[in-house]
Amino acid sequence: MAIRLGDVAPDFTADTTEGSVNFYDYLGDSWGILFSHPKDFTPVCTTELGGFSARKGDFDKRNTKLIAVSVDSVESHNRWKNDIDEVQGTMLNFPIIGDEDHKVADLYDMIHPNASDTLTVRSVFIVAPDKKVKLTLTYPASVGRNVDEIVRVLDSLQLSAAYPVATPLDWKDGDDVIISPAVSDEDAKEKFPKGFKKVKDYLRFTPQPNK
Ligand code: BEZ
Repeated sequence: MAIRLGDVAPDFTADTTEGSVNFYDYLGDSWGILFSHPKDFTPVCTTELGGFSARKGDFDKRNTKLIAVSVDSVESHNRWKNDIDEVQGTMLNFPIIGDEDHKVADLYDMIHPNASDTLTVRSVFIVAPDKKVKLTLTYPASVGRNVDEIVRVLDSLQLSAAYPVATPLDWKDGDDVIISPAVSDEDAKEKFPKGFKKVKDYLRFTPQPNK
């Protein structure tokens, strides 16, 4: 069954390029990003894994751990790692699961048979420290992901986990945010001491509270 927002992320133990990994133990109290790659030694996947490795500092700053999954073997992933290093100029710095038996792919519904019977689509699952799924994304094999977008949604998710706010169209870290309609004007004055601008009763902007 498809994993939906708010579901508890299924736990698993799997062989990876960093040995046997239990997903929950690996995440600990951190946020997590589990993302799938259709196949080793393919062009788009090579750019993605290198790109995510190069941006590991951005994920570390956000207390977020990365783990990738691909239906090839760990032995294949280990050979591919050298290409990623060579092509992208960075060493892979998070585990890739060797999911030859599709255990993780099936658990997270990453194989979409009308796209491919055997390869995963490019799925992204963002998991909060309470192990609930906070975001899912699905791209076809032909479209590489965008690290800036994933960091942006992570910032938004972490902000709305800490404050009663939502983020508007094209929001990025540092921009004004929207006060939740569940917060009264009276409470908003207390919760958001920098003040707020009321455009409509239901649309109130305030400076990003953690800046
Ligand atoms: C790629 O990563 O380039 C790719 C993988 C599987 C199918 C098509 C493209």
